[in-house]
Amino acid sequence: MTLPKQVKLVEVGPRDGLQNEPGDIIPTDIKIDLINALSSAGLSHIEATSFVSPKWVPQMADASAVMMGIQRHPDTTYAALTPNLTGLNKALNTEVDEVAVFTAASEAFTQKNINCSIAESLERFAPLIEKANANNIPVRGYVSTVMGCPYTGEISAEQVTVVCKEMIEMGCYEISLGDTIGTGTPLKAKRLIEAVTKEIPVSKLAAHFHDTYGQALANIYAVLEEGVSVIDTSVAGLGGCPYAQGASGNVATEDVLYMLNGLGIETGVQLDELIKVSHWISQQLQRSNGSKVALALTPKSSI
Ligand code: HMG
Ligand code: MG
Repeated sequence: MTLPKQVKLVEVGPRDGLQNEPGDIIPTDIKIDLINALSSAGLSHIEATSFVSPKWVPQMADASAVMMGIQRHPDTTYAALTPNLTGLNKALNTEVDEVAVFTAASEAFTQKNINCSIAESLERFAPLIEKANANNIPVRGYVSTVMGCPYTGEISAEQVTVVCKEMIEMGCYEISLGDTIGTGTPLKAKRLIEAVTKEIPVSKLAAHFHDTYGQALANIYAVLEEGVSVIDTSVAGLGGCPYAQGASGNVATEDVLYMLNGLGIETGVQLDELIKVSHWISQQLQRSNGSKVALALTPKSSI
């Protein structure tokens, strides 16, 4: 197995990282400064926010203000989650570069997260993808719970493959495989890619691994060996899903970058700049939420 020469890092910290922050609502200015700092550090693909129901995810209620406030870097794609047409319409008003739809391989998780079945979620995505494409907006697809569900446990690679295939056929240009609760291990991750790539080329897959049990880096290495070259990460390891109990943060961008640098894999991201951003956002979150979260938000990396 050969490793890819280049990897695209998809920075999801401003969305996946901040959506789950407990306590006070994070000021919009901090979110905007974070996104600007990430693009300055060389991240070329940033998931900036999500156009979801503010009743469901209050931290993302300022999605339009965040999108409109960003200083657009010419080499950066600014993406947002959109669960339905309402979300897409709001996103289009902010000149979003790309949107992402999200469902799961688990029925129970889909119900908890977006209040519908997997089949209903796909029905909702059809007109959304059509309208996005008509506006020249690429659509990314997420499939969550690919290596375990917080409600029903084991998920088979076949279940995952069926949903991924359907989303690709509907027009998603890429599927991000979400290990939402971080229960995957390297061999399982490898087997998952082997199964999904029977139906979908590896160039259309991304890895989105949460780090609940400290397995994310090992899992990423395993899927790099399978040819996956798009990896979702979150600065300072922030994050989790509010509808997946026990889900901790995504794998930290700086940890993945340190590993990729060591492997001689190009990303275009500057580690020293990124570490500054990681420390800065951690300090900001301690300030806005008080000392009760200080430990949890200490950057994992102090390289
Ligand atoms: P619902 O309650 O079934 O929606 O929620 P509804 O269509 O019945 O509408 C109810 C109300 O919400 C209405 O307002 C709508 O206008 C409003 P009301 O009349 O009551 O005032 N509404 C919206 N408002 C703003 N933006 C919208 C929107 N849609 C409806 N887009 C819904 C269904 C999908 C909206 C809801 O369940 C939801 O917002 N869920 C989002 C949950 C979420 O964001 N989870 C975290 C992201 S996924 C994740 O983290 C996993 C991932 O990282 C990968 C991984 O780790 O595995 C991607
Ligand atoms: Mg996630």
